[in-house]
Amino acid sequence: MKQKKPWGGRFTKQTAALVESFTESISFDWRLCQHDIEGSIAHANMLAKCKLITEKEKDAIIKGLKEILAEILTGKFEFKESLEDVHMNIESALIERIGEAGKKLHTARSRNDQVALDLRLWTREQARTVKSLLTVLQKELVKKGKAFFGLIMPGFTHLQHAQPVLVSHYLLAYVEMLERDKARLQDCCARLNKSPLGACALAGTTLPTDPAFTAKLLGFEGICENSMDAVSDRDFCVEYAFCLSMIAMHLSRLAEEWIIWCNDEMKFIEISDAYCTGSSIMPQKKNPDVLELIRGKCGRVFGHLTALLTLLKGLPLSYNRDMQEDKIAIFDAADTVQTSLSVLAELVANTNFNGEQMMHACEKGFIDATALAEYLVKKGVPFRMAHEIVGKIVRECIRVQCKLTDLRLESFQAFSSAIEKDVYKALGVENCIKNYKSYGSTAPGFVKKRITYWEKKLNKG
Ligand code: ARG
Repeated sequence: MKQKKPWGGRFTKQTAALVESFTESISFDWRLCQHDIEGSIAHANMLAKCKLITEKEKDAIIKGLKEILAEILTGKFEFKESLEDVHMNIESALIERIGEAGKKLHTARSRNDQVALDLRLWTREQARTVKSLLTVLQKELVKKGKAFFGLIMPGFTHLQHAQPVLVSHYLLAYVEMLERDKARLQDCCARLNKSPLGACALAGTTLPTDPAFTAKLLGFEGICENSMDAVSDRDFCVEYAFCLSMIAMHLSRLAEEWIIWCNDEMKFIEISDAYCTGSSIMPQKKNPDVLELIRGKCGRVFGHLTALLTLLKGLPLSYNRDMQEDKIAIFDAADTVQTSLSVLAELVANTNFNGEQMMHACEKGFIDATALAEYLVKKGVPFRMAHEIVGKIVRECIRVQCKLTDLRLESFQAFSSAIEKDVYKALGVENCIKNYKSYGSTAPGFVKKRITYWEKKLNKG
């Protein structure tokens, strides 16, 4: 038997099968079920408070909704494509279950404000999950930073050896990025935390309702001020997709780096076998596929952000069915980032840094050259001149194939009389690290403090 449509009153023909499957959203929006029911319970409470339904009807509605939710969660509920979406599936099941009272639930409500509400609730909760996953990853990075404190690696700019840094300092750079990601999510949630319920289809209602009451029940900080905006606003989806894109981009940068670092040339890191995969033809291979997929999935997340912006750019106010597509984008973006965060946290925990290889790499590329220029500055040489002098010294080292520390004092002095015996205290990777002074630098004392700071902060929340 064909399902009767809740909106079927003015129709004389059955919906074409192809139209049903083309317009349905239940295959993906069933995920909103918990929030849909949470919203409906709040709505029923408000209707009773405003005497639009009786206490008895309210109780029947709430009991029915709770039973439906239990059935959904235990996999017993049958979602029907012919009932389009999660909202109509649940409402129809409620009516089937409790009869007349169920027919009153949609009083002073439209699917337009209902879906806007569900999405806000979903995003608010999802953002919390992402935030806690970010914290888990941050903790792993800090743990590594602590475990490998003292290891020195070449810091890169342009992917060329630049200046030596502590591995811990490098790791904490990502902790900072992820902290900004959390702040961004927080900010996005603060803005979305207003209830659209009460906007109904687009213009509000003639019935005596109390939207402030539902807003409060659902933990919102206020009500959307304009009913047309309330049902057409998906800015929060775009913002959330942007927050997720930024996270994905950060993860991808780390992935890219570590893919390079675990190759045979560099061998800066060793990822546990449990987090790598092999080749079906080359028996010797151990590949960083997890990192490559984290990098690759990033494109998918950016794609969803672009899809959402494109989806909205031509939409007149207020609700348009196009908006149904928002969920596909936002769900997949969230799923993708969540799995990437989870797997990366484990991978970080199961990766070791190869101090010897890193130190060996530090021997190459004159990474103490800047320290030598600053040594000259301390001796009174203007920086631009110091830069020029050290450039020439480096050129000489390349010619005779030696490191800066290999040069004899007389050779140094042939380039600048300002250079004295104490120059050797400025040169060499370890001295460089020891001599850093500025706030936020890789100075060991500063990095150590920062590790303690993060340990405390991350264990709090
Ligand atoms: N499934 C729809 C969506 O996801 C729900 C809202 C439908 N509203 C409507 N007037 N057809 O956007």
